[in-house]
Amino acid sequence: MLARLLTFIVAASLSLIGTAQAQGKPELQWFGQAAFKLTTAGGKVIMIDPWILGNPKTPQELKNLDALGKVDLILVTHGHGDHLGDAVELAKKNNVPVWGPAGMNQTLATLGVLPANLAPRMNKSGTIEPFPGVKITQVHAEHSSEMILKDPVTGKDVSYAAGEPVGLIIELESGLKIYHMGDTGLFGDMKFIGEYYKPDLLLIPIGGHFVLSPKDAAYATREWIKPKMALPMHYGTNPFLRGTPAEYKAALGQTATEVLDMNPGDKKTF
Ligand code: NI
Repeated sequence: MLARLLTFIVAASLSLIGTAQAQGKPELQWFGQAAFKLTTAGGKVIMIDPWILGNPKTPQELKNLDALGKVDLILVTHGHGDHLGDAVELAKKNNVPVWGPAGMNQTLATLGVLPANLAPRMNKSGTIEPFPGVKITQVHAEHSSEMILKDPVTGKDVSYAAGEPVGLIIELESGLKIYHMGDTGLFGDMKFIGEYYKPDLLLIPIGGHFVLSPKDAAYATREWIKPKMALPMHYGTNPFLRGTPAEYKAALGQTATEVLDMNPGDKKTF
């Protein structure tokens, strides 16, 4: 009897330890606009379009690059300031690469803004596996990609070509697929991306003017991409980005997609 009880206790303890280990769930924190901190199940920290310090939607207490802790990888969808954001500073601070459009990284390296090893190049359909079980693929986005940098000699702003904008398919250890669309307008291959990559979680711009409007975003979500979950982003940071999550939800109507209700600063595990 005692032996059986002991066996039960040992088994129960082992199962508890197993549960604790399996609890490493990926976590996504939104900073407003298209900026996210993604922590993988394995504990790797990926910053996406890290516009933190100048982002009017980032809560004041989060406007601190030190407070992000260790960063393992940076992803940037295009050269606009509200996406490139603090990527250069974060890359140097953590000595980690920025994976962005090939043309953007080429310009950053050529100008000496980043050393070449921190500005590696890839292109659309290319996939990297920076950590075991984590795969990142660049896909098409319908947008533009200039980059404004200060000339160190004259102190004046200079506009540089920064490659072609991209969206990102991020597949995590659990198989969860996130589609960060970057900045984009409507394009028919969103249907292809939906069918081919089958994203679970869609991070979709809805502000309008520079990106999808709520109506366009709802159409792409419902008719083409059909994700399990969607988080509307890229709105309310400047007067042109007028679209709201309420308009997006209203335009979506009845759908199988769950629209996540998150505010800048919020975290969610998956
Ligand atoms: Ni943009």
